[in-house]
Amino acid sequence: MGKRSAPRYPEDENKGGGCCCCLLGCCCCLLLILLSLVGTVAYLYYTYKPKPPSYSVNNMAVSKFEFSSSDLTLYTKLVASVRAENPNEMIGIKYADGSRTVVSYRGTTLCSGKLPTFVQGPKNITVMEIAMEGRHGFGDGLQKALEESENEGNVPLDIYVSVPVYLIFNDETSPGIRVNVHAALVIDSISPKKKPTIKSATYQGNVEAADG
Ligand SMILES: *[C@@H]1O[C@H](CO)[C@@H](O)[C@H](O)[C@H]1NC(C)=O
Repeated sequence: MGKRSAPRYPEDENKGGGCCCCLLGCCCCLLLILLSLVGTVAYLYYTYKPKPPSYSVNNMAVSKFEFSSSDLTLYTKLVASVRAENPNEMIGIKYADGSRTVVSYRGTTLCSGKLPTFVQGPKNITVMEIAMEGRHGFGDGLQKALEESENEGNVPLDIYVSVPVYLIFNDETSPGIRVNVHAALVIDSISPKKKPTIKSATYQGNVEAADG
């Protein structure tokens, strides 16, 4: 064994050196590819300067809010005006089919609807009128709580919006993402007799892979 390994030693060293060189070359190549990728992403990022769109509820109009004591249901019909702003200079936003909007009061769904489908161009502000309607069963507690809120002039409402969205830049369309927005509103009244005033609103949002 000792005799055989001794003459091989210099050979191995040579081979090792060649491999090292090759490895170094590979590393350099990979590094270059990585750098150019990072460069491309940075270039795209700074060219398109993507900014998240912003949403706010401008207005609410309640056309129906009726308790039916015969079958213990509450029928609600309202329109929420949502102002959507696309602040991007080069990115369009396509609001696709398959959206859902829900209005709930303290965890009880009152009504639901969906967003219009449209493409929002760069630097565009659009006010969407979202019509929502629903009949839902309620217990005694819900009606009492709603009456109390109404008397206090503080009706907390949660609006949930979930919409599939595609970003459009340079005539390319991105893979779909799903945008979820939760608006926690307090309005002074929920009744067809009086136009509600929005007293406060806070917004939270997140983005996820579409229909994953
Ligand atoms: C924004 O886009 C909508 C829908 O495409 C269009 O009707 C509206 O005129 C645009 N508004 C502005 C300010 O460009």
